[in-house]
Amino acid sequence: MLGHIIEDGATVLLYSLKGKSWLVKVDSRNEFHTHFGVIKFSDLVGKRYGDVVKTNSGQEMILLEPLLVDYLMKSERKTQIVYPKDIGLIIMETGIGPGSIVIEAGTGSGVLTTAVANFVRPTGKVYSYEIRPEFIEIAERNLKRAGLQDYVVIKNKDASQGFDETGADAVLIDVGAPWTLVKPAFDALKGGGALAAVLPTINQAEKLATELKKAGFVKVNTIELLCRSIEAREGMSRPATRMIAHTAYLMFARKSFLKVNTSYNENSCDGSEK
Ligand SMILES: C[S@@+](CC[C@H](N)C(=O)[O-])C[C@H]1O[C@@H](n2cnc3c(N)ncnc32)[C@H](O)[C@@H]1O
Repeated sequence: MLGHIIEDGATVLLYSLKGKSWLVKVDSRNEFHTHFGVIKFSDLVGKRYGDVVKTNSGQEMILLEPLLVDYLMKSERKTQIVYPKDIGLIIMETGIGPGSIVIEAGTGSGVLTTAVANFVRPTGKVYSYEIRPEFIEIAERNLKRAGLQDYVVIKNKDASQGFDETGADAVLIDVGAPWTLVKPAFDALKGGGALAAVLPTINQAEKLATELKKAGFVKVNTIELLCRSIEAREGMSRPATRMIAHTAYLMFARKSFLKVNTSYNENSCDGSEK
C-alpha cells in the first residue's frame, strides 16, 4: 500500500534525479553501493515512501514503493522479455483478470508470467511451460521478488507436446516456433478463449496467422505497438531522439468451432471494425 513506512526487509525503488533507479531489498546490516555513492540501508528504515535520502557523496535518492512495472523492468533476464507496453495490450485483448486460468509457453525470464500473475490473483492461476530449466530458476526468482509465486505453476515441459490443462481462458505464446502450438492451444482453450502471441519477426506472424485461421481461430489480429517518449519541457517539447523501434509483433485470436476460416484480419489496432 502506498504511504507505508519503510521497514527492514522491504523492497524499495531508489530513484536518482539523474534518471537511474535501483530495486533494492532493505537489509539494515548492509550498505548499497552505486556510482552516485553509498547509502546505509539503516538510514531507510522508518522513512516514508516519497522521502529523500542522500548518498555519502551528497546525491539525492527518492524512496519509492515499487510498482509492478518496476519489478518487470528490474527483472533478472537471460532471454528477450515482453515489454510493459505490449503486456498492457495483451491483458486488454485477452480479458485476463482476477480468477482467470492462463496457460503460457515459454516462461523465459518470467517477465510476462509475473505481470499476468498479478492480474489473475487472488483466485486465478498461470500454468507456464518452459523447456530450459536454467530459465525456470531465473523466472522463479523474479516471481518471488515480486511476491507473486503463489499464482504460478511452472512446468519443465515442451509445450508443442500439448498442455495438461483444458478449459483455459487464455493461452499466451512467446516461443520461436509458435505455429507448433496452435493445436495444443486450441485443445487447451475454452470455446471463445483468447490466444495472444509475441512475435519478434514478421515471418513468424505470417506463418502463425495462416495456421490459426486453418485451425478455426477467428478475430486473428496482428499489430505492432510503437512507444515514443516525449521530452516535455517548457517551450522546447519534442520527441526523444532515441527509441526502441521494435519489440515484437502481437497477434491475438479467439477460439471458434468454425472448421476452416480464411478470413483476413478483422480489426485494426485502434479497435475499429471494417
Ligand atoms: C523469448 S523467451 C520468453 C520470454 C518471456 N515471455 C518473458 O517475458 O520473460 C522464449 C522461451 O521459450 C522457451 N521455449 C521455446 N520453445 C518452447 C516450447 N516448445 N515449450 C516450452 N518452452 C519453449 C525458450 O526456452 C525460451 O526460454
